[in-house]
Amino acid sequence: MEFSVKSGSPEKQRSACIVVGVYEPRRLSPVAEQLDKISDGYISNLLRRGDLEGKPGQMLLLHHVPNVLSERVLLVGCGKERELDERQYRQIITKTISTLNDTGSMEAVCFLTELHVKGRDTYWKVRHAVETTLDSLYTFDQLKSKKDETRRPLRKIVFNVPTRRELTLGENAIEHGVAIAAGMKATKDVANMPPNICTPAYLAEQAKDLAMTYDTVTTNIIGEKEMQELGMHSYLAVGRGSRNESMMSVIHYQGTDEKTAPIVLVGKGLTFDSGGISIKPSDGMDEMKYDMGGAAGVYGTMKALAEMNLKINVIGVLAGCENMPGGDAYRPGDVLTTMSGQTVEVLNTDAEGRLVLCDALTYVEAFDPELVIDVATLTGACVVALGKHATGLLSSHNPLAHELLNASEQSGDRAWRLPLWDEYQDQLESPFADFSNLGGRAAGTITAACFLSRFTKKYNWAHLDIAGTAWRSGGKDKGATGRPVPMLSQFLMNKAGVETEH
Ligand code: BES
Ligand code: MN
Ligand code: ZN
Repeated sequence: MEFSVKSGSPEKQRSACIVVGVYEPRRLSPVAEQLDKISDGYISNLLRRGDLEGKPGQMLLLHHVPNVLSERVLLVGCGKERELDERQYRQIITKTISTLNDTGSMEAVCFLTELHVKGRDTYWKVRHAVETTLDSLYTFDQLKSKKDETRRPLRKIVFNVPTRRELTLGENAIEHGVAIAAGMKATKDVANMPPNICTPAYLAEQAKDLAMTYDTVTTNIIGEKEMQELGMHSYLAVGRGSRNESMMSVIHYQGTDEKTAPIVLVGKGLTFDSGGISIKPSDGMDEMKYDMGGAAGVYGTMKALAEMNLKINVIGVLAGCENMPGGDAYRPGDVLTTMSGQTVEVLNTDAEGRLVLCDALTYVEAFDPELVIDVATLTGACVVALGKHATGLLSSHNPLAHELLNASEQSGDRAWRLPLWDEYQDQLESPFADFSNLGGRAAGTITAACFLSRFTKKYNWAHLDIAGTAWRSGGKDKGATGRPVPMLSQFLMNKAGVETEH
């Protein structure tokens, strides 16, 4: 898809389609008003006859509007003017894109970026239009023997901005939106890949490909032998039941002086989580291929970051592993010695994510990081608490938590903080080891984070539980969402001092 910005008047555009908003009830946006004038009331007449009320997402496609140079005019219902918020704006863009794609307009000039969205500027509107467009056109058809192809797909969109002064802002917004969308696509592609193809070795291949594509990136892979030498016995125990070798991919992005302390992102990369000996029920177990959503999110964020060439140093770790039952599998009752030296009693082999992450989190101490964020589809309890709308955020460092919450607000990729009070730590007590990997039914997301917090004392740390947000469950619409790439990309842009609010 090709995007550009322009500042022009609607009647002068020579395009396959121009897209303009109509508010409810039957009220023209300023741009629609201009078209109405030039066409001697053609549009207001239609509205008067009841063809379009202006309800959010309503569409009316017109051909040959008098005195308008474009072949088509798409009127888009935008709801009540004062209620147009971010969510509605995104829904309107999605609807518009699917209409354009279905009705044979291969290019369009879109004036929806001139609508007033509460509290948001032109940069935001253009960037989100780009992200939403690319997100909504995503398909995963690599493994289908017959692909459905749109006969005349949308190829080119011009976003109009109100003044020439805003053209540069619009261009930056496109560049950022395209980079973030590319990161989301990379995340979705690996996450949707089935677990017989997407193994820890496959994740490592993707990580090495990044280094091939970008000069700023280098990747190294840590296999089981090296994990053994490093003392990562907890990580290794989880992968022991699987025929697929555990592999941790370490992706270094250098955007500034090598002496600058890196930001580290660590992603849980369970390419399949059967639960192991504490095996999961079979219904919906296929969805546990997404248990590498954290690693996929880190991988996609590294891609977005490299696309934008941000002036910071970032290390992304994909903690690849598969949790399977078998004669060599680890079991409930086992006591493991982690890389940190702390011992853990395994009470449930399905609480494996924390056992992989704890060693990865100890491993990254060696980088002397500015801060560390881990990203994981860690607990079903997080889906119960926050559903699919918000990522769970837990952190022992208030400033970092606030920066992440700000980034989530700016990017529209929501997160919500849960407490990490010491009182919850008691739920991990064990009579046989330093602590156990299970905190009981109460506050499952918090006790999982408490477990991780015992391995992150040496740096500022935050944890993102994306169990509810990384993919859509069930139905025909199931699949990876590309989250939390927007939030993490925004966080890194803020760290790099990129201006995204004006
Ligand atoms: N990968 C799962 C968490 C999960 C569950 C993510 C459902 C998305 C949807 C994780 O490894 C797991 O199995 N967690 C257990 C922890 C429990 C045994 C303490 C859970 O949430 O039930
Ligand atoms: Mn599990
Ligand atoms: Zn898991």
